[in-house]
Amino acid sequence: MNNKIIIINGPNLNLLGEREQSQYGSISYDKLKENCLRKSEELGFKVEFAQSNIEGELVNIIQESRNKYDGIIINAAAFTHTSVAIRDALDIFKKPIIELHISNIYKREEFRQKSLISDIVTGGIFGLGADGYILAIISMQKLLKK
Ligand code: DQA
Repeated sequence: MNNKIIIINGPNLNLLGEREQSQYGSISYDKLKENCLRKSEELGFKVEFAQSNIEGELVNIIQESRNKYDGIIINAAAFTHTSVAIRDALDIFKKPIIELHISNIYKREEFRQKSLISDIVTGGIFGLGADGYILAIISMQKLLKK
């Protein structure tokens, strides 16, 4: 299988390991990236890892993914709860999308309990810590086999 996917990360996820460890654990962004690359290689597909703190940059990355990738795994972080622009960009991507959150957003503050993208993605994983990324990669492989 020669599928290519992209894992897109929103604001502040570059500071994993340093920020709110009670919510996000102690794994660093670099280590998370390394684990994801290893898992994807093991499953036989190519993965690109992207992160931005800037909403418009994330929109550009999603738009450009249309012609480059077979699937998107996205942790839009705080923009999950606010960004119609990211929602609209994802809605144009007509291939599998997995929404991911490290923490359980439904157990947290009220403003985090609303995702603007859940109803347009293929499926989602939340509250399972950084392992969620590995589970998302496995699920994406299955979605792309269909
Ligand atoms: C997050 C949850 C968001 O509410 C938060 O703004 C993040 C990370 C998560 O992975 O649990 O930055 O998406």
